[in-house]
Amino acid sequence: MSIQIVDFACFLDGSAKRQTADQIIASLRSTGFVYLRNFGLSNEEVQMMFDWSKRLFSLPHETKMLAPHPESGTHHRGYSYPCQEKVIQYPESGNSFTVAPPSMKESFEVGSEDDDSMPNIWLPESALPGFKEASLAFYWKCHEVEKNILRALALGFGLEEKWFLRYHEGTDNQLRLQHYPSIALESLKTNKLTRMSGHTDFDTLTFLFQDSIGGLEVEDPNQPGRFVAVPPVPNSIVLNSGDFLQRWSNDTVPSTMHRVVAPPGMVAEGGMLPDRYSIPYFCAPGMSTIIDCIPGTWSTDQPKKYEPVSVGEYSVKRFAANY
Ligand code: NI
Repeated sequence: MSIQIVDFACFLDGSAKRQTADQIIASLRSTGFVYLRNFGLSNEEVQMMFDWSKRLFSLPHETKMLAPHPESGTHHRGYSYPCQEKVIQYPESGNSFTVAPPSMKESFEVGSEDDDSMPNIWLPESALPGFKEASLAFYWKCHEVEKNILRALALGFGLEEKWFLRYHEGTDNQLRLQHYPSIALESLKTNKLTRMSGHTDFDTLTFLFQDSIGGLEVEDPNQPGRFVAVPPVPNSIVLNSGDFLQRWSNDTVPSTMHRVVAPPGMVAEGGMLPDRYSIPYFCAPGMSTIIDCIPGTWSTDQPKKYEPVSVGEYSVKRFAANY
């Protein structure tokens, strides 16, 4: 199982659009993951967001709790303290779902200011001046990256380039700053805590900015239960397909299970793993979108595996299970 590293510049500058799109789709089909370098943001822009993230998480707990993520329900904005979020894999069928050990991370979620269904929950401006403006600016820069990726995906599926764009106006996305505090290796080994337990993403696609610590793993779709490392590649993002793309593609592109564990080969000094920072950006279709298998992914020989589903209905069900 190998996750390809694709130079996205060849798509952005138009020099090899179709070939780049094909490479991306090929990697997603076999693993659900692909690395993109030259994806459209500079190292400085990305580093600046990591700097904001570090400043935010180093604030005192009481300050961070001035923007509390609601304890339950489907409103996912603001600050979640360590172990607040339960990561649950909601089953497609059947009636039981699994609860993993508590996830030892803190996070801060930002959405579009135009999303009336989930208003942002901000710290008072004086607690971290400039943070709100910087996060919103980064959010919309990521949406520009998303639009280019969606164009490439459409081409890769043999659709016209703008096919996915009408469903992804950017208002339903989520920028999440994550901090995995330094933790005793032993507590991960004994399963008392996790960094992030296995789950699939309930969106169209996610791209992830990660620091150099590592620990992300993806399940091999051909060998359930076998997880493979997705190590950090400098100056690149990790792109993965979510549940909606899997449904749209009639299972030709999997939404693969992934998790965050102790980085392989990491010598834990004094038994402690170092902090890890990551920034995922979740790209989701509008709530009113009905997802039906896209043309070209089904035929009389390969019928549709899914009934059309409304994004709103599906998301509320999954979101509500996570807190
Ligand atoms: Ni994920």
